[in-house]
Amino acid sequence: MSAVWERGVVANPKKHYRSGQKKNWRGWTSNRALEQLAVKPADALVLYLVGPEDHDREKLLAKGFRNENLIAVDLIEDHVQRVRDAGGFGICADLAALLLAWPASWPIDYVIADFCSGIEDPTLSFVEALAWGPAISVSHERRTVVAINLQRGRENSAAGKSLMANVATCLRGVGVGISQKNRAAHFISIAVMRVCAQLEDVAKECGWELDTHALASEYVRSIGTFPTYTYANDAQNVLFDSAVFTWPASVASFMAESPRLVLSKAFRAERSVVRDRIAALRAVRTMKLRAS
Ligand SMILES: C[S@@+](CC[C@H](N)C(=O)[O-])C[C@H]1O[C@@H](n2cnc3c(N)ncnc32)[C@H](O)[C@@H]1O
Repeated sequence: MSAVWERGVVANPKKHYRSGQKKNWRGWTSNRALEQLAVKPADALVLYLVGPEDHDREKLLAKGFRNENLIAVDLIEDHVQRVRDAGGFGICADLAALLLAWPASWPIDYVIADFCSGIEDPTLSFVEALAWGPAISVSHERRTVVAINLQRGRENSAAGKSLMANVATCLRGVGVGISQKNRAAHFISIAVMRVCAQLEDVAKECGWELDTHALASEYVRSIGTFPTYTYANDAQNVLFDSAVFTWPASVASFMAESPRLVLSKAFRAERSVVRDRIAALRAVRTMKLRAS
């Protein structure tokens, strides 16, 4: 079981995912994504956190996305296997590790990060993945749309709590007029702050002439205003905050190789495992497409 379930974030996940509120969330999310996507839904590559039942695929297919371009992602192998058994495509991996290993030659158009958890380490790794993922926002014309869904007030770790205590500073730093409560908006502002701080570090380390301030302003300007959505669970005692936004540019899209990615040995090992899984997924997908 993933840490998400161990913490009991969603009490009865299957019931929760079948609820009317969650269905409305799916409709809202896909409509907002369609407004922002750079390509037609039929051509868009989508990576999404799948959960115990594959409800998102049905909605996406109804909106014109194609089965072979919908890649279910989950840390729980059973969830992914269920998708494969039903004729879909899936990969068992950590979402952030996957985005970091995904090849630039197969651009990702839409990521549905329905974490349903608070802002914690796994959600922050997702920030790194947006910043450095080679297949994220590969060009100005082909930028990646991201749907993020987080639970309000569920930061369980000391790091998560301290982060939320500092979020007001982040919000002021980013200078976007956003709700002080919406976790998805918090996530975006934290993401921008972190990316800019990282860029500054990298530029210093490498002695690059990079106008990080100009780049930071460009990130903020480019994300601009974004739609947000909040819904409650059945018992009305837990709130989930969502946003759908277009990620300005991957750092990797203008740097040949990120020094940060080269630094970590542990990451290199994980990346090679995940790369093998991506290669296996591609092979199966190609075989199925040829056969059909
Ligand atoms: C909230 S559920 C997705 C539900 C789905 N969107 C739906 O509405 O039916 C989130 C799923 O993502 C998985 N998950 C959480 N964090 C993850 C991560 N960092 N990488 C991969 N899977 C993750 C969990 O195991 C869980 O099954």
